[in-house]
Amino acid sequence: MGGHSLLPGLLLFLPLISGWTISNCSVTEGSRLHLVRGFSLCFLDSSLLLLAACSGVTNVTKTLEAVPLGVEGLCLTGSPSVLPTDAFSRFPGLKALRLSLYRTQILPGAFWGLGQLQLLSFLQPPGRDLFLPPDALGNLSSLQDVAFSGVCLNGSSGVRLPPNLRRLAVTLSCLENVGQLADIFPDLVRGSSGDAWTLEMLDLTLNKWLKTASPGALPGLKLGTLKLDHTKMKAAAVMGLGLRRLDALSVTFTDTAELPAGTVAHFELQELSMGGVGMRIEHIAPEALASCQSLKSLSLQGSRLMDLPPGLLAALRRLQRLNLSGNKLRSAVLCPKETGGESGLRALDLSSNELHSLAPATFSCLSHLRELLLQVNQLVRLEGQVFQGLRRLEMLDLSNNPLEALGEGWLAPLPALTTLNLLKTHIVLSPAWDFWGPESLQDLRLPLPSGPPGAALSLPTRLTSLELHAVPGGELWELASPAFPALQKLTLNGWGLQLGTQNVTRIFPALRQLSLFGSSLEGLCSHDTPSFFLWQLPRLQYLRVQGDGRGPKPCCITGLPNLQELKLQRLQSREQPRRLQLEELVGELPRLQVLYVAQTGLETLSAVAFRGLGSLQVLVLVWENGLVLDGGLQQLSPQMPQSVYVMISSLACQCANAWVGPWLEGSPRTYVFIASAQLCQPEAGVHPKPRLFPFLRSHCPRTSELGLFLGSSALLLLLISLPLLQEARNSWLLYLQALLRAWLQDLWGRKGEGKRFLYDVFVSHCRQDQAWVVQELLPTLEGRRSLRLCLPKWDFEPGKDVAENVTESMANSQVTLCVLSCQALRTPRCRLELRLATSLLLAAPRPPLLLLVFLERVSRHQLPRYHRLAWLLRRGDYCLWPEEEERKDGFWAWLGSRLEQARLG
Ligand SMILES: *[C@@H]1O[C@H](CO)[C@@H](O)[C@H](O)[C@H]1NC(C)=O
Ligand SMILES: *[C@@H]1O[C@H](CO)[C@@H](O)[C@H](O)[C@H]1NC(C)=O
Ligand SMILES: *[C@@H]1O[C@H](CO)[C@@H](O)[C@H](O)[C@H]1NC(C)=O
Ligand SMILES: *[C@@H]1O[C@H](CO)[C@@H](O)[C@H](O)[C@H]1NC(C)=O
Ligand SMILES: *[C@@H]1O[C@H](CO)[C@@H](O)[C@H](O)[C@H]1NC(C)=O
Ligand SMILES: *[C@@H]1O[C@H](CO)[C@@H](O)[C@H](O)[C@H]1NC(C)=O
Ligand SMILES: *[C@@H]1O[C@H](CO)[C@@H](O)[C@H](O)[C@H]1NC(C)=O
Repeated sequence: MGGHSLLPGLLLFLPLISGWTISNCSVTEGSRLHLVRGFSLCFLDSSLLLLAACSGVTNVTKTLEAVPLGVEGLCLTGSPSVLPTDAFSRFPGLKALRLSLYRTQILPGAFWGLGQLQLLSFLQPPGRDLFLPPDALGNLSSLQDVAFSGVCLNGSSGVRLPPNLRRLAVTLSCLENVGQLADIFPDLVRGSSGDAWTLEMLDLTLNKWLKTASPGALPGLKLGTLKLDHTKMKAAAVMGLGLRRLDALSVTFTDTAELPAGTVAHFELQELSMGGVGMRIEHIAPEALASCQSLKSLSLQGSRLMDLPPGLLAALRRLQRLNLSGNKLRSAVLCPKETGGESGLRALDLSSNELHSLAPATFSCLSHLRELLLQVNQLVRLEGQVFQGLRRLEMLDLSNNPLEALGEGWLAPLPALTTLNLLKTHIVLSPAWDFWGPESLQDLRLPLPSGPPGAALSLPTRLTSLELHAVPGGELWELASPAFPALQKLTLNGWGLQLGTQNVTRIFPALRQLSLFGSSLEGLCSHDTPSFFLWQLPRLQYLRVQGDGRGPKPCCITGLPNLQELKLQRLQSREQPRRLQLEELVGELPRLQVLYVAQTGLETLSAVAFRGLGSLQVLVLVWENGLVLDGGLQQLSPQMPQSVYVMISSLACQCANAWVGPWLEGSPRTYVFIASAQLCQPEAGVHPKPRLFPFLRSHCPRTSELGLFLGSSALLLLLISLPLLQEARNSWLLYLQALLRAWLQDLWGRKGEGKRFLYDVFVSHCRQDQAWVVQELLPTLEGRRSLRLCLPKWDFEPGKDVAENVTESMANSQVTLCVLSCQALRTPRCRLELRLATSLLLAAPRPPLLLLVFLERVSRHQLPRYHRLAWLLRRGDYCLWPEEEERKDGFWAWLGSRLEQARLG
């Protein structure tokens, strides 16, 4: 929560000259990393406050100028020629630094000043040489993790290690002999005080040439964990390294085919991990086990083990974790009767084997077991006695088994069970199914096959988390219990439940997280157009909706007072893709902080959509193409979310987006990151495609600079006439005449200061909106405020001097009020009036007041280009007529206050 005020602060650090799209860097708060990871930010720790990732780096100094000074995590990718001395000293708070730099010379002192740096990693495509100056890391006193991946370090030697190093990784490199490490990092064998180093972890995985260790290669080194996975090293060779201590060894995907009993005994190893898909162990000799008594954790994954050595658990009395995942076990004999005795085992993983059945009392000697994983096997039946003796078991995973039958009372021996996963099994739920033995069961995952019509599903009411996967289109189940008072997290995949929307608050009063996958949204949407989300869940904080590309039009999520994060994904129908406005997806969500929208067919982002999202901080758009950012957003900037990420999406090559480029460069208050170079495709076959913003800049009228022309009437007239020429060829002369008149009138008007107006308010509206004007507006303004209103007459004769008449009426009114609706915007006459009003506003040296009233939500994008000059209005000069009775007072208060400003009313 502490990071919420961070982004405004971050903007203070920004150099004003560089727009975000130009700098190649993206920035996010660590707590939001999950939203953008995978698109632009490299893997960094989400507990860091502020993170930045820069790609295409050609000059480190230049790139870093655009990075906020407060960053705690930084990734740089590119091929600058040098990493200069003192490169990062402007960022003393940096804690994690990842560099993917190709052919870059690291100068001595490149990392000076990074007193708080904890993690430093170098990442390259395999096989590139890296020369590290000997003193590069020497005095980084907080540095604990150093990792080199893909880097050949054989050119470097005598590199001093940072004094507090705990984990060193050299992976995917060209090491052939462990002994080379001692040349590169002599500290490993001769620490600063003469003693060898102690490291928590030395990770040498994926070194495919690593096969030997010269005897005594790392003498005296004390190691917590040594990882040699995916190398050609033999576990037995580890004994010869000269290590003084080793606790854990991982040798998966190596040639180690037998339990390395000698190595285990030599170091009294506590953890051993071996095997790996395609590796072969098959059988374990009982004699080998006898030497492995020190083991607390044994992992033999993917080793083609067919059976377990008898007395495995009896031999390994200290064993707490046993991982046998991915073998060929057909039976699990863990507790043979003759050996007796209890095992201290706490976690047992038998997943991905070939178990068809489990004998009664298979686990009877495992009274300390907490976690039992049996997923991805061939289990069809479970007898009542199978889980006998597991009285401390908390977690049981049976998912992905062809399970059909569950014995009577099969859960009864598991009084401590809290988590049960039965997804992707074939269990038949019957209405009378009430096997829910354990009092403590909190987290349940269940398949929901098509129920018998009208069937009631009986579930434990104490659940805090429930996940149901329904068969699409199956019969719906009713819930047998009237309420789940503790349920906080609900995941529905497919629909499958029959839930009356009006009772949902009573059924799930505590619901905080709701995830809906597949077709499940349909059950929650009203069926009118536009349709709305129906569930009233006052406590809901997180909602995720992921469609399957088949749904109809998505409905609008609205009316959830505490919702903080909303994710909408894959809602666009593949058969009938339809473009949407953001306001069709989200309505009133006053506490929403994060909105994530992916593949919904979003087209226009306009200010209207943000009206109900007063707390929005982060907006992420992914896989949305041809986006139009409405010009009105610019004006809305203070209310816009603090950061907007446009990922793997493109902006439409339309003049409507022309304002975006200059706006971004002007360092807006909103942080906007637009990933990937935005290109235009104006005509097919034009190569190379021009870059979006420069193209728009040179091809679109510079509306955003119109304000500069105020006062220069000749230019103004020219500009105004251009769109008129396009849109209204037949009557453009008429408009020009009117405008000229307006302009001249103003010249005259200036002579007679303090001129009296004929009318107070000129009400521009179209015939279709007349009812509103007569029934709502007139009574209030003429009746209660006794203002003089001028309403245009509708009986103009064609060809008569309409424009002149209207212009004169406007010029003679102190305030012009335009009533707008979609209908009005399609009526030529209304467009004319609005056009005249805005031109008058521009032409007059002392502009009259122009107010806009929207009778319905109209995207600014729908306003014809010239009308969008409405942003020349002061903020607050427009208002939406509310549908709800109780909010109408607010509207009249607004109108009243604007009229008072014009010293009316
Ligand atoms: C941004 O990245 C592109 C390539 O992705 C590169 O050509 C350009 O020089 C980079 N700009 C800066 C300022 O680093
Ligand atoms: C990098 O940019 C900085 C300033 O932007 C400049 O002073 C420096 O010479 C550049 N370095 C290289 C190697 O081009
Ligand atoms: C690291 O050493 C260099 C010179 O060897 C020195 O200039 C620098 O200040 C030192 N940095 C720290 C954090 O001690
Ligand atoms: C490092 O080793 C690799 C592979 O053995 C070799 O190709 C490369 O030339 C060596 N680099 C140096 C600087 O010795
Ligand atoms: C067992 O090993 C597999 C494969 O490495 C791993 O995915 C799984 O998480 C491990 N199980 C446990 C309980 O640690
Ligand atoms: C809502 O709850 C009431 C009272 O428990 C019940 O009578 C009514 O049928 C429920 N409505 C729906 C649609 O489930
Ligand atoms: C505009 O026309 C109407 C009727 O056609 C007329 O009543 C009104 O006086 C005219 N206004 C001006 C300013 O000429």
